[in-house]
Amino acid sequence: MNPRKIAFINEKGGTCKTTLAVNVAAYFAQKKGLRTLLVDMDTQGHAGKSVGLDVRNLTPNVFHLLSDPSVPFEAVAQPTAIPNLTVLPAYKEMSEFPVAVANDPRRAWRLADRLASPAAQGFDAILFDAPPSMGQATFNILVAATEVVIPVGLTYLSLDGCAEVVETVRRVAEQHQRPDLHVSLVVPTLYRKTTLADEILEKLKSYFPDRCAKNSLGMNVKIDEAQSHGQTIWEYAPWSRGAQMLQEIAEEVFDAEKAESVGAGRAVA
Ligand SMILES: Nc1ncnc2c1ncn2[C@@H]1O[C@H](COP(=O)(O)OP(=O)(O)O)[C@@H](O)[C@H]1O
Ligand SMILES: [Mg+2]
Repeated sequence: MNPRKIAFINEKGGTCKTTLAVNVAAYFAQKKGLRTLLVDMDTQGHAGKSVGLDVRNLTPNVFHLLSDPSVPFEAVAQPTAIPNLTVLPAYKEMSEFPVAVANDPRRAWRLADRLASPAAQGFDAILFDAPPSMGQATFNILVAATEVVIPVGLTYLSLDGCAEVVETVRRVAEQHQRPDLHVSLVVPTLYRKTTLADEILEKLKSYFPDRCAKNSLGMNVKIDEAQSHGQTIWEYAPWSRGAQMLQEIAEEVFDAEKAESVGAGRAVA
């Protein structure tokens, strides 16, 4: 069976893309028993760092996998301390990716092609952590993925960023003939009980009546601490409010496919 391919995308930084990609991937691997691959496409390498990998010293990494066909998938895929979770780590070199592939007409397909190779088979779920920009790395993720989760920080102007993502998803689906690519879930993040946050949340729900997550990710310091310790929330503070909120959202991401199969919202926007 084809693995689920879920991308966490927002061109704004600090909207919890990495936090969600890492913790949902670890949740799928550990709690749902899915063989899970977490693909980092950001120069910061935070996804790998967040599961305890020393990404500075891991070469070849995802950049080499995508820019050099002689680099085998197995040389890049890193096992983690979390059962069932494998990571394709990234680091600084990813900033060279757009230039490295500039002359290739199939440059947007580099990631999809590598994940379709026999060596990359055997996963039940592939999750993608995107950089905070709509460049070549994000296009590669969109061509490789089918489900897009948009984490939206409930701050001023955040709805603008969300509309941009929806439009980009629609355009990539059309230009690269990816009819299955769609926004599956919009997750409100950085929620604090303020009038402004509640107003933005209401707007988000009215824009995405069937795809806005029921649970928001509120602020919890354990989530930040876990990341700085190179641990998932399930390892660092499993009984925290942060873990509880992330579990509710991970379950919604897990269920988003079922909602899909009963016919809810195949359209991109
Ligand atoms: N719910 C939360 N409560 C407190 N801090 C958070 C929460 N979610 C994320 N953070 C912190 O906010 C920062 C940005 O989050 P991150 O997931 O890295 O965003 P992005 O990948 O979208 O840039 C990180 O330091 C992270 O630990
Ligand atoms: Mg990030």
